[in-house]
Amino acid sequence: MANPIRVAIIGAGIGASHLKGYRALPNRFTVSVLCDLDQERAAKVTDGDRSIRIEPDLDRVLADPDIDIIDICLPPHLHFKVSMAALAAGKHVVCEKPFVSSLHEADLLAEAVQKSGRILSPVFQYRFGRGFAQLRALIDKGLAGKAYTSSIETHWCRRAEYYDIPWRGTWKGEQGGAVLSHAIHNHDLLCYVMGNVRRLTAFTATRVNPIETEDCASIVFEMESGALATSSITLGAADDTSHFRFCFEGFTAESGKAPYTPAEDTWHFLARDPARQAEIDAVVNAVPEVHSGFAGFFDALADAIEGQGGNEVTVADGRRSLEMVTAIYHTARTGGTAELPLNHEHPLYKGWTPK
Ligand SMILES: NC(=O)c1ccc[n+]([C@@H]2O[C@H](COP(=O)([O-])OP(=O)(O)OC[C@H]3O[C@@H](n4cnc5c(N)ncnc54)[C@H](O)[C@@H]3O)[C@@H](O)[C@H]2O)c1
Repeated sequence: MANPIRVAIIGAGIGASHLKGYRALPNRFTVSVLCDLDQERAAKVTDGDRSIRIEPDLDRVLADPDIDIIDICLPPHLHFKVSMAALAAGKHVVCEKPFVSSLHEADLLAEAVQKSGRILSPVFQYRFGRGFAQLRALIDKGLAGKAYTSSIETHWCRRAEYYDIPWRGTWKGEQGGAVLSHAIHNHDLLCYVMGNVRRLTAFTATRVNPIETEDCASIVFEMESGALATSSITLGAADDTSHFRFCFEGFTAESGKAPYTPAEDTWHFLARDPARQAEIDAVVNAVPEVHSGFAGFFDALADAIEGQGGNEVTVADGRRSLEMVTAIYHTARTGGTAELPLNHEHPLYKGWTPK
């Protein structure tokens, strides 16, 4: 593997933020190519940096032996096809959320990853930041005890112009609404802290913008541990906030309200037994600064590529996020609860978009 690892970013929208993340780790990564059909858009992103080749032809990028990672920042309906092609070309893959369009595709990709011996990391950059690392440190040190409940708010503001990009807000292009595209990060964090979901039930509604997909949802989860959780989602808030509370036997953890960088935000950890607050504070204060957001995500990926994995986002994490999506859409349409895990017998195994 070349050092630094050589990356081609495919798609110049959120790809611009990926580029910043790689640039924060110059000893680990070099971005050699930015591929987009829209050359002008790509040129704006590279902003005169001649070390990055702008390339409209994805097949040429896949065939380039000097690329180690294909980083897919394309609209969702292209994720599966391009991930498969990149693995077949012998590349490691980073793929934006939602990493595929069904549990079936997730299982096919997991098989392809295993056969290829390459790493595929679905993007969940919200995991990375000091506040969240503090919460993980408290759990790892055994100070959390039993998990009781958790609440998550994904209260963001998306006005009509957000849907000017034609694939957004449609089942065919975006493949889902606020559950799939927006709250998916925060639901990943829920499981990252509380473990897997045992069952859930959900309501969804389209109340904010005239779109096909949902822009509001309320979801109730029972985790495998027996802990409970609720998620409230809207794209019709007055501003953008993400907010978490995790109530454990040992302490309550509360995030700030930063919408897209909850892990980096200042978290508060309040001991239930005041006599143990100092112990909690000592663990929290000992957590060093870490790379946040995309830089943190890529740093963990580089560790995994170099054989020091453990912190990287895995295909199993990506599948778990889509299992929740599938169960949420299913119960929202049919009522009742969905028991997880979901396998090939589930009616939405091959896709949750309405027929
Ligand atoms: N992780 C996050 O926080 C986050 C944030 C925003 C978007 N996303 C995800 O990133 C993905 C892209 O979203 P976006 O908002 O950047 O979309 P976008 O439409 O703004 O950008 C996609 C780009 O891909 C290009 N493109 C399309 N087909 C192509 C092809 N065959 N070859 C080369 N280029 C092609 C388009 O020209 C466009 O510039 C989506 O899956 C979205 O859900 C993730």
